[in-house]
Amino acid sequence: MSATPVTRTCLLGDRTVRRVGYGAMQLAGPGVFGPPKDHATALAVLRAAVAAGVNHIDTSDFYGPHVTNRLIREALAPYPDDLVLVTKLGARRGDDASWLPAITPDELTRGVHDNLRNLGLDRIEVVNFRAMFSNHGPAEGSIAAQVDALAQLQQQGLIRHIGVSNVTPAQVAEARAICPIVCVQNMYNIVHRHDDALIDQLAADGIAYVPFFPLGGFNPLQSERLNCIAQDLGATPMQVAQAWLLHRSPNILLITGTASLAHLAQNLAVADIDLDAATMAMLDTL
Ligand SMILES: NC(=O)c1ccc[n+]([C@@H]2O[C@H](COP(=O)([O-])OP(=O)(O)OC[C@H]3O[C@@H](n4cnc5c(N)ncnc54)[C@H](OP(=O)(O)O)[C@@H]3O)[C@@H](O)[C@H]2O)c1
Repeated sequence: MSATPVTRTCLLGDRTVRRVGYGAMQLAGPGVFGPPKDHATALAVLRAAVAAGVNHIDTSDFYGPHVTNRLIREALAPYPDDLVLVTKLGARRGDDASWLPAITPDELTRGVHDNLRNLGLDRIEVVNFRAMFSNHGPAEGSIAAQVDALAQLQQQGLIRHIGVSNVTPAQVAEARAICPIVCVQNMYNIVHRHDDALIDQLAADGIAYVPFFPLGGFNPLQSERLNCIAQDLGATPMQVAQAWLLHRSPNILLITGTASLAHLAQNLAVADIDLDAATMAMLDTL
């Protein structure tokens, strides 16, 4: 039985983007710190993504720091009209590559200006507030002051849309009570499914859900069953993991990260992989 093909696009705020996007974090050096291993290939990856139709790129000025934003500007400016660049605030990097919170209104304002300068923009399409209350994923705690600060920057015209990241459902609700939230960016993949209920609620409300670590991030997905299913489909396990996300819910946008042109080509093809109901059922039990 063949499945209905997945929808190719989704609304992100008021912009229609392809569901297969690109996450730029892997372009920075080891530990997301310092320059890329291969500057020319980093530029080539960004250009190849956009040439293939990607119009949604996720980044942050704390990748490097400043590295991925400057690469994006060097590779892609002047930007195509349909390209939606999404950044995130809430952290800064120590000299030792550590990740430190940067969540005061002053730090958030500085962060917006750093992103504008390094990306070469007058206004950022989407800014996510990335909560950092724990080293182990989302943790409860009010994010009202930070979302409020972003809403003020939005009123000043520096930000078009606001999203939240690494958040609990209660924090999503708290943010939505302050201003419209266009996307939620949390860790989610075929074996890490804490957000199942949240995704369904956001889909019903027309809000995009953007999983980070769609392939497991620094701990790549590994499953013998996934390998077997992928072999039967003539795809790679990492392609099937992304196709599963596209089939999981129409509000899911992919921002898989890669510094490799070969992997990028594989990732750009995942919307063509049809998963029928029986295969989805098998994948759901991984
Ligand atoms: N909001 C947040 O807190 C947060 C946190 C982390 C990440 N993010 C965003 O989410 C994006 C995605 O997360 P991520 O890049 O950390 O992790 P990911 O997409 O789950 O995995 C990236 C890893 O998978 C490898 N890979 C990519 N495509 C592959 C393929 N087709 N076959 C085999 N391996 C493949 C990459 O290596 P190669 O380079 O060798 O391909 C890299 O090591 C990031 O780029 C970033 O923009 C957000």
